[in-house]
Amino acid sequence: MYNKVVMSKFLKPENAGSLRGANAVGKAGNSNCGDIIKIYLLVDEEGIIEEAKFKTFGCPAAIACSDVACDLVRGLQIDEALDVSSKEIFDELGGLENNRVYCSVLAEDAIKLAVENYYKKKSK
Ligand code: FES
Repeated sequence: MYNKVVMSKFLKPENAGSLRGANAVGKAGNSNCGDIIKIYLLVDEEGIIEEAKFKTFGCPAAIACSDVACDLVRGLQIDEALDVSSKEIFDELGGLENNRVYCSVLAEDAIKLAVENYYKKKSK
């Protein structure tokens, strides 16, 4: 059973959807379960993450982790987003059933890939 925090984020994620003007996107997949998390970032000229949204195809935990990941990166400097860990996401949710750390790892990976994508686009 998922706890109440996970269930409410799964059923009513506040950060789900597309993000107009996003200038970075990170897509991470877990080949074992087939789940995919896509995180979109809108980073301003100072390198601050103004907004974050997600689109996730996956388990309730992956959706809840995606939602929390967006909350955690919003307002950070782009580099600081690299410090958001799967453990932080996991703890923010009050844990995941059966210790499903890999669902939160997927969200961390998506953030890291979004940061990488931001720098890749910027260097062009
Ligand atoms: Fe695949 Fe949760 S079961 S990310």
